[in-house]
Amino acid sequence: MVTGASSGIGVELAKLLAPRVAHLALVARRVELLEALATELRAAHPALQVTVLPCDLGDLAAVKALGPRLGEVDVLVNNAGAGDAAFFAEVEWAKMEQLFTLNALAPAFLMRHLLPGMVARGRGGILNVSSGFGLTSLPTFGPYVATKHFLSGLTETLRAEVVGTGVVVTQSCPGPVDTGFEAALARPLYVSPPKCFVISAKQCAAETFAAFERGAAFVVPGFRMRLVTWLIGATPRWVLQLVQAGVARRLR
Ligand SMILES: NC(=O)c1ccc[n+]([C@@H]2O[C@H](COP(=O)([O-])OP(=O)(O)OC[C@H]3O[C@@H](n4cnc5c(N)ncnc54)[C@H](OP(=O)(O)O)[C@@H]3O)[C@@H](O)[C@H]2O)c1
Repeated sequence: MVTGASSGIGVELAKLLAPRVAHLALVARRVELLEALATELRAAHPALQVTVLPCDLGDLAAVKALGPRLGEVDVLVNNAGAGDAAFFAEVEWAKMEQLFTLNALAPAFLMRHLLPGMVARGRGGILNVSSGFGLTSLPTFGPYVATKHFLSGLTETLRAEVVGTGVVVTQSCPGPVDTGFEAALARPLYVSPPKCFVISAKQCAAETFAAFERGAAFVVPGFRMRLVTWLIGATPRWVLQLVQAGVARRLR
């Protein structure tokens, strides 16, 4: 089951899963895009069963209603997500609630709902698409940073808890990826990252999926972002905070 399979990284992850599974469930809001992908995948893999499950994962009631419709799921890919760019004092609360549900509560609910079955069967996997913002922070990205820290922290904890059960838990923390994500931010405060750090959705999905298949805990797709992530991790927190305060002042 792949969430956010209507565009970007999710489409590419679904394409990588298709030849490896018997049944694929695609979840997102834009049904026509999910149907188009389902048709393409069925044509490429005639034995594959594809189910389209339209759901607004930013609506907790809809997420909970999805649970009983799922049956046994061996591989859960929590990929659906969105961002926002605004100073925290100016964010729209309704939008933030939706963001917390989509990026944090929905993946947590799906994991909690599907994990017991995976453990009981002694096999399965959870692949969570978090973000580089799950490891660091940036002014004007507060709610997004918070949701991705939530997802990264939960994934890391879960990974330790399932050791020896036959279940694999992996997270991907990409930097900038060329998808609809940036366009959806569409805020005057959003500053595009340097092009040299941007990778394609195909590359992001390929490196993410390869890490999942080899049972890795964690991957940062793209060599340059791996290097940046390592450098950030090696930098004292007070230095990062000085840099971030400078960024915030410039944005104001
Ligand atoms: N692109 C980047 O630079 C970047 C970097 C780091 C991490 N990520 C993460 O990568 C993941 C995939 O993003 P992407 O880059 O592939 O962006 P994208 O092309 O905008 O795709 C986002 C996917 O999430 C789905 N989605 C958004 N809101 C939803 C909702 N309320 N209910 C159900 N599905 C919803 C979208 O489907 P519908 O609109 O059809 O519902 C779409 O399939 C996200 O979790 C994002 O945080 C992206």
